[in-house]
Amino acid sequence: MTVVCAAHLPYPSRAMNPTTNIAVRAARQAASIMMRSFNRIDTLTIAEKQAHDYVSEVDRAAEQAIIETIRRSYPHHAILAEESGSHDGNEYQWIIDPLDGTTNYLHGFPQFSISIAMQHRGQLQSAVVYDPLRDEMFTASRGNGALLNGRRLRVSEQKSLQGALIGTGIPFRDQTYLDAYLAMMKAMVRDTAGIRRPGSAALDLAYGAAGRTDGFWELGLSSWDMAGGILLVREAGGTVTDIRGGDGHLESGNLVAGNLRVHREMLATLKPHVPERMRA
Ligand code: IPD
Ligand code: CA
Ligand code: CA
Repeated sequence: MTVVCAAHLPYPSRAMNPTTNIAVRAARQAASIMMRSFNRIDTLTIAEKQAHDYVSEVDRAAEQAIIETIRRSYPHHAILAEESGSHDGNEYQWIIDPLDGTTNYLHGFPQFSISIAMQHRGQLQSAVVYDPLRDEMFTASRGNGALLNGRRLRVSEQKSLQGALIGTGIPFRDQTYLDAYLAMMKAMVRDTAGIRRPGSAALDLAYGAAGRTDGFWELGLSSWDMAGGILLVREAGGTVTDIRGGDGHLESGNLVAGNLRVHREMLATLKPHVPERMRA
């Protein structure tokens, strides 16, 4: 259930810090590149980065547009972007996934997003996750809450896993922990009302922040898949940890998110299936 407060804030609003406003601008530019090509995906140049991992000219062009927009306002900030890697700068770092859900996009499956986050000395300050198909702009500024198109977001009030709707991602590249993941999935299926695998981790987390799902877990994510969504969930009152309840998720990519109660039960349900050798 989405919980939205009555006040409709002006948008972009004062509840956003200046870096969030720049991220919104950058996301819109990337979106227009994406949408221009969405009805001619069969003509796009696509490369396979590694097994089951594709990149198209759209991912690259969108990323370039985002970086140019950020650099115009913040020329000295550092950048970590999925397709072009690390760009040196000061202690402010932008973390960019120009197209989260490339596999969906390249199949014409309508679920993908743009994720842009900014952190200062390791602390997330700003986040934008944008769904161009639904024109849904999820934003968060540290200490100022999370918004969807200017309306305040709150995680769900679901009290337990029983009856909960849980998002996830199924490992499709590195399958080292596929069996462990399937055991986790089986336990979750038994304990919840349903599992969803929409295919854009950034949007999955944004949906958690909006109370559309009650929790989310995935193994082996990259920092650009998660950074924006993590701040959204936290600013919407939710909890994000690694698979053992600690704070190693940005390094390990193994992440569990939800409202406080659902998150606690998810950790307990997943625990028996977390191999000892798996990074937290
Ligand atoms: C992927 C999506 C997907 C998740 C993968 C990610 P990409 O990102 O977020 O939902 O399951 O782990 O890599 O490659 O489409 O940017
Ligand atoms: Ca991604
Ligand atoms: Ca991507």
